[in-house]
Amino acid sequence: ATEQVIAQVAEGDEADVQLAVEAARKAFDTGDWPKMDARDRGMLLFRLADLIEKNIDEIAALETLDNGKPISDSRNVDLPLVIDCYRYYAGWADKNHGKTIPIRGNYHCYTRHEPLGVAGQIIPWNFPLLMQAWKWAPALAAGCTSVLKTAEQTPLSALRIGELAMEAGFPKGVVNIISGFGPTAGAALVKHPGVDKIAFTGHFETAQIIMKEAAKTIKRVTFELGGKSPNVIFADADLDAAVEGAYIGLYLNQGQCCCAGSRVFVEESIHDEFIEKMIAMAKDRKLGDPFDPSTEQGPQVDKDQFDKIMSFIQKGKDQGATCAMGGERAADNGYYIQPTLFTDVSDDMSIATDEIFGPVMSVLKFKDYNEAIERANSTFYGLAAAVWTRDVKKAHSFAAAVRAGTIWVNCYDVFDAAAPFGGYKMSGI
Ligand code: NAI
Ligand code: MG
Repeated sequence: ATEQVIAQVAEGDEADVQLAVEAARKAFDTGDWPKMDARDRGMLLFRLADLIEKNIDEIAALETLDNGKPISDSRNVDLPLVIDCYRYYAGWADKNHGKTIPIRGNYHCYTRHEPLGVAGQIIPWNFPLLMQAWKWAPALAAGCTSVLKTAEQTPLSALRIGELAMEAGFPKGVVNIISGFGPTAGAALVKHPGVDKIAFTGHFETAQIIMKEAAKTIKRVTFELGGKSPNVIFADADLDAAVEGAYIGLYLNQGQCCCAGSRVFVEESIHDEFIEKMIAMAKDRKLGDPFDPSTEQGPQVDKDQFDKIMSFIQKGKDQGATCAMGGERAADNGYYIQPTLFTDVSDDMSIATDEIFGPVMSVLKFKDYNEAIERANSTFYGLAAAVWTRDVKKAHSFAAAVRAGTIWVNCYDVFDAAAPFGGYKMSGI
C-alpha cells in the first residue's frame, strides 16, 4: 500500500527446517500427540478456534498489514472461514472410522485410519490464514504433526496463530512454523526424509519442482495449483445476479484467487448489455488504504505480482483485445491496479490462457451451449467453473460436462469447510 517495509522477520533456512522436523518427528514418534484421545485432539482445535475468535480484530489487522487486503475482507471473509475450518475439523477428530471386513476364514479383518506422520505444508500469500487453516486443521485432527512454511510475502499472521496454539495447549513439537523462502526453506522441507507428506498450494511450476524432488523419498503430495476458471453466462440467466457474481468472482482479493473466474464467457445476445452493467458496477469500486473499512480493493501483494499483472495487461493490448475499462496503475504510490476489463478476447491470447492473478477480467463471446462447454474445457487447468442460467437441465449438464473440481450454479466463490475443494488436470492433486 505504501511501498514501505513493515517489519523484518528472521529467515529460516535448512538448519531451521532440520530442527523443526526433528521436533515434529519426536512429537509424532514418541510424544503424546498420536496417543492422545482423538476427542481431546479435537478439543484443542476447538480451543484454538475460540482463541482466534477472541482475538479476531487483532488477527484481521495483522492479515491486512501483511497482505494488503482490505480490512473488511480480512475481518468478514477470511477470519470467519478460518474459524469455521478449525471447528469443522475439530468435529472430525473422533469420527474418523475404519471398517471391519468379512474375509474368508476364521479371521478378524479390519482397517484403522492412522495419521500419516509429519506433514510438510507450504502455503502461499493470497489467503495466508485460510491456507494455514486448510493445512493445519485436517492434518492435526487426524493426528499428524506439522511443519508449515509460510510464504515469504506474508509471514506475520501465522506466527500469531502459532502463539495462540501454544496458549491453547498443543503439546510441544506438534506445530512448527518456518518463515523463509521457497528454494531454501521450502526445498529443505521437501527433501527431508523425516517428512511423510508435502501439502502445497501455489504455482504449478513450483509443484513440478516439488513433485520431482519428493519422488526421491516417495513422499505423498497434495497440490492446489490455481486455474483459469470459466464463468459461463447464458442468455436466460438473471443478468444482474450474473454481473454481480462475475464481479465478485474476479475482483475479490485484488484478483489474487486460485479459483478466480478469469474467463467470463457471455452468450452473444446479452454480451453488450453484460459489459455495460459490469463496467457500471466495477468503475465505482473503491480502491485505497486497506485499513479504511470502506475500501473494497487494496494493493497487489508485492512488486513482482504487480509487474506480472501489468505485463499481462500490456500483452492483452498488444495481442488485439480491447481494454474496455482500467488497464493502468491506480495510484502513484503502492501497487494498486485499476479494475480492468478486456473485450474481444480470443481463446489463444495470453490473457485467456494464463493465470494473471490480478484484477483483470477477460470477456469472451459465445453462440451456443456446445461451444461454451468445449471452450470452457480447453484449458490445462480444472479448478473451478460457474454457470448462470434459469434452465435447471442446462445447469446440471454443464456441471457434469465441465471438468473442474467445483462448479458453482448461479453463484460464485461460495466456500464451506464441509465442501471439498480441488481440481482436475494441472490444477492439482
Ligand atoms: P510460488 O508457487 O512460488 O509460491 C508458493 C509457496 O511455495 C511459497 O511459500 C514459496 O516460498 C514456496 N516455494 C517457492 N519455490 C519453492 C521451491 N522450490 N520449493 C519449495 N517451496 C517453494 O508462487 P509465487 O511465486 O508466490 O506466485 C507466482 C504465481 O503463482 C502467482 O502469480 C499465481 O499465478 C500463482 N499462485 C497461485 C496460488 C494459488 O492459490 N493456487 C497462490 C499463490 C500463487
Ligand atoms: Mg515463486
